[in-house]
Amino acid sequence: MEPKIIQTNAELQDWIRKINSAIIFVPTMGGLHPGHQYLIRKAKKSKRKKSQIVLVSIFVNPLQFGKDEDFKKYPRNIERDAELAFSAGADAIWTPVYSEVFPGGEDSHFKIQVPKNLHNQLCGEQRQGHFDGVATVILRLIKIIKPEILILGEKDWQQLIIIRRLFQELSIPIKIKSFSTQRDESGFAYSSRNAYLSNSERLNALSLPNAMKEAKNEFAQGKLINLKKIASNLERNNLKIEYIKIVDAFSLKERENVNGICLLAAAVKCGSSRLIDHTFLMKRKPIIAIDGPAGAGKSTVTKEFAKRLGFIYLDTGAMYRAVTWFIQSKSIDPSDLIGIKNILKDSKISFKNSNLVEQRIFINNIDVTEEIRSPKVTSLVSSIAKQHFVRDLLTTQQQLIGIDGGIIAEGRDIGTAVFPDADVKIFLTASSKERASRRFIDLQKRGYECSNINDLEKEIENRDKEDSQRTIAPLKKAKDAIEILTDGMIIEEVLEALTDIFRSKIPEEVWPTPNL
Ligand code: CDP
Repeated sequence: MEPKIIQTNAELQDWIRKINSAIIFVPTMGGLHPGHQYLIRKAKKSKRKKSQIVLVSIFVNPLQFGKDEDFKKYPRNIERDAELAFSAGADAIWTPVYSEVFPGGEDSHFKIQVPKNLHNQLCGEQRQGHFDGVATVILRLIKIIKPEILILGEKDWQQLIIIRRLFQELSIPIKIKSFSTQRDESGFAYSSRNAYLSNSERLNALSLPNAMKEAKNEFAQGKLINLKKIASNLERNNLKIEYIKIVDAFSLKERENVNGICLLAAAVKCGSSRLIDHTFLMKRKPIIAIDGPAGAGKSTVTKEFAKRLGFIYLDTGAMYRAVTWFIQSKSIDPSDLIGIKNILKDSKISFKNSNLVEQRIFINNIDVTEEIRSPKVTSLVSSIAKQHFVRDLLTTQQQLIGIDGGIIAEGRDIGTAVFPDADVKIFLTASSKERASRRFIDLQKRGYECSNINDLEKEIENRDKEDSQRTIAPLKKAKDAIEILTDGMIIEEVLEALTDIFRSKIPEEVWPTPNL
């Protein structure tokens, strides 16, 4: 397709009708730089279907500039921008004038008011109404373009959080994909406003990313972050501080201590230019909890997702099954609590990966990978799993495996009891009919006799009931878990849903994954 520059709304609508494709939309205010080009490249890479195309808009939105801000002098150079956008893979750029986006003028269109607790943090505290302007224009642009995917950068983190919340609250069915801040070789974050800096200002401005990097390194070594020291260091370099704070990355509320994902963020004035930068702080690598009832397809997708992320894969159900197999092999009655305690207290469960996908499980060095899937173990496991002692023993082992994070664990109680502070919590489920038919195929593949799918469905329902009704750590959706109902979804679709949720909770900068 010939790259195309579109100006008017009518021309745009005509083009949209003709191409008959889903649009991946990258909104910009122009002044393009390698950071924008990265987003465009990522947009192009996220094309799943042949009939998706990448559209970049260039519109300097007056609503997001304050009275004394740089609206008039904001860099505008359409030819240069077009060249950069097309060389990064854009299929078309749209460069509307104001009246194309707000045909009736500003006062005849709805305006969005961003909730105060999100707006009046970080940049919004000083830039009154700024994010209202951003949110309003984004809604106008998507109303005109009707994209399938919206691409945003993590550089403007507060903006990203606000737009995600806006789409969620208004149930706007457009997928948001966000990508990390791009920096030049000196570590300076690309920004259109960098063009205002003189050479000497640029040298001073470099102390901002340097301070962020140093603070992050010190934090990783277990040291406390001293905001006052960072501030005075920046001031020594002639930067005027607007704010420097540690905030929760999602609520944007100020934090004394780092819990979950936090943001060390700063805005400074360098000469007349306003610069922002941030870095993410985390005490450990991310943890993903996947819970759900039997046969929801947890193992298949969790394994594959762990591989794509380079995370440890932990199948906690296999641990309960291994213990059950062991108890059964010693002919101990499931109700004999003392007998169970005695044989389990010195038992050791371990995992070995024979390759990235194939994981084998051992109890006391016996490989029980195949045996634990037998219908006999399946029928006993829930009654063993509800024992206090068994749960304590396995939960402690699971927490130890995940102590440094970088783990995706699947089970029944991961988001509620094992890793209640997991960064991503998913409840994966499907109707019992669908789950029974998946289990039927699975058992046949493993060579087990399986005569009646209705009996299988009943067995699954009974096990769900027993798992949900036990007193300790029952199967239930954690309050902060996101549910995926997988009926009718193929594995790749579930993986895509997982990827989107993961990316909405874990910035690309925290866990870069070229294959996501
Ligand atoms: O493979 P399937 O989905 O049927 O189950 P599984 O994940 O292998 O787990 C087998 C059984 O272990 C469940 O039915 C639960 O009784 C128990 N379990 C548990 O209690 N807590 C977990 N975190 C994981 C499994």
